[in-house]
Amino acid sequence: MSVLVTGGAGYIGSHTCVSLLNRGMDVIILDDFSNSNQKVVQRIEHMTKKEVKYYSIDLKDKDAVHSVFADNEIEAVIHFAGYKAVGESVVNPLSYYDNNLISTIYLLQVMKQFNVKKLVFSSSATVYGRPKQVPIAENAHLSATNPYGRTKLIIEDMLRDIYASDNDWAITCLRYFNPIGAHPSGNLGEDPRGIPNNLMPYITQVAIGKRPVLQIFGDGFSTKDGTGVRDYIHVMDLAEGHICALEQLKKVTGFNFYNLGTGKGYSVLEIVQTFERVNHVNIPYIITDARMGDIPISYADPTAAATGLGWKAQRGLEEMCIDAWRWQKNNPTGYSDKKNPHLMQSGDFSFS
Ligand code: UFG
Repeated sequence: MSVLVTGGAGYIGSHTCVSLLNRGMDVIILDDFSNSNQKVVQRIEHMTKKEVKYYSIDLKDKDAVHSVFADNEIEAVIHFAGYKAVGESVVNPLSYYDNNLISTIYLLQVMKQFNVKKLVFSSSATVYGRPKQVPIAENAHLSATNPYGRTKLIIEDMLRDIYASDNDWAITCLRYFNPIGAHPSGNLGEDPRGIPNNLMPYITQVAIGKRPVLQIFGDGFSTKDGTGVRDYIHVMDLAEGHICALEQLKKVTGFNFYNLGTGKGYSVLEIVQTFERVNHVNIPYIITDARMGDIPISYADPTAAATGLGWKAQRGLEEMCIDAWRWQKNNPTGYSDKKNPHLMQSGDFSFS
């Protein structure tokens, strides 16, 4: 199967490409590299020993997207590309609506034109807004608390409408909880630009000495220890969720949506303590005020993905922390590292 992966050089996209290639699928990456690095493509090739075709294209350049479809026999698309920073979306909502929505509309128009009707969409648990209860099942109330989240909701609605208008489509929205961790080889991982918004890359940057101290955003929530609770999921488990979704799309049409989470909630303090224990490092932290808009607790009911996709997260929190730290240690400055003596071959690790 030949799969077009938009945003394939990004954090989740790159890990998914490795899983696809290791399953014998052909991968075409489409990425504008605005928030990723071309070195990622080389690393994917190096790790899988396979050639990867890639296009440095902005999805809002519809003619360019059209030529990608004209030049390749694409059978399915996994759509990761999009802006993803919650705070930035509040400051600059128009750029989020412009980028995330228009690019998706163009992509869908071109897919329709070329009769490519299999799509996995990168959605997010953000579509649950401020959840009324946990665990969160797919039928929970949907809402958005920021423009980024609203773009995910709008795209899900668009996709639902497309399927309703033409039942030949096979569309799956995957609602990710909190992806962390990295490829076990240490060759791929999360490489945020500037100050990390998310917890795990901040922790690893404190551990490597790039930042002096972690700020824990509030300890007054009604959770086990007062700090925020989330469902952290290993990015390799997430990648495998996309393979399961694609396998299903090969067989049946429909519009489906699934949570990808572990079903377990961990507090910020539990993450810090686990990271320190398994990696033998010290993470200095201070407690600050809660971050605006943060919810106290969120974790998935992952039952539907188990039943519908045959997918279940396999990796635990310790593995997530170990792999995240290996990535950061091997790549102290992310992909901008000139020389990387730790780059390893795929044969050094097993892929499930
Ligand atoms: N946190 C800190 N310090 C930091 C960063 C985060 O204490 O420096 C805390 C947060 O307050 C929260 C937890 O760590 O309790 C996780 O925060 P993240 O920023 O890593 O993740 P969020 O749950 O806030 O956001 C994630 C994704 C969003 C998505 C959202 C809902 O980053 O894209 O889940 O699904 F919208």
